[in-house]
Amino acid sequence: MSDVNEYYIDLDERAEKMLREGEFLGKGNNGVVYLLPENRVIKIFKEKRICKREYSILARTEGSEYFPNVYSNGTYYIVRDYVGGERLDKYIKKNGLDKEVACKVIELMKEFQRLNFTKLDIRCKDLYITEELSLMVIDPRNNYSKDRTYPRHLMKGLNKLGVLEKFLEVVKDEYDEFYDEWNSKMKRYLETGIK
Ligand SMILES: Nc1ncnc2c1ncn2[C@@H]1O[C@H](COP(=O)(O)OP(=O)(O)O)[C@@H](O)[C@H]1O
Ligand SMILES: [Mg+2]
Repeated sequence: MSDVNEYYIDLDERAEKMLREGEFLGKGNNGVVYLLPENRVIKIFKEKRICKREYSILARTEGSEYFPNVYSNGTYYIVRDYVGGERLDKYIKKNGLDKEVACKVIELMKEFQRLNFTKLDIRCKDLYITEELSLMVIDPRNNYSKDRTYPRHLMKGLNKLGVLEKFLEVVKDEYDEFYDEWNSKMKRYLETGIK
């Protein structure tokens, strides 16, 4: 057996051990997440293809303050930073959407542009907001494969929470460069279903 193989077997044993000792945090369609010491989590994937895909996104977002850092990975797992705070949709339900938080969300879209994402969108469910009001993406997907020029899903979520008008007001006042496209495409989408 080559050194490389031994190295990978060793890592998988390490992952198994981490899993046994970690506290369960949550589960989604693709995997299950456990808390580890040192403010880290391990996400174990059902499919190696999805693990690889998510890892490649996190590798490209490395260094961005909006994404968890990655510490190690294997065929079926990724170890990354724990993200504290509250899910953005739950936070908005409780607190509404003020200008400061709206601006953070729009700044995140600018970060997506900076990272050359082809999909300028994210679901409220995949965003966490910390006590210091900074936003973090927990579950990135398709950012480099889907084409979407405006945050339709995000605004759909905001609409459901009753804060879309407020959000678009802030876009208009503070980020005028986005306003015409986001406003017109979203209104058209809500009225006609045209994406
Ligand atoms: N970095 C993280 N920090 C804290 N909790 C997390 C983190 N990543 C995931 N979770 C929790 O685990 C759940 C499932 O993780 P997620 O990445 O959304 O899996 P899936 O890709 O299957 O949807 C999340 O909804 C969240 O509750
Ligand atoms: Mg998820």
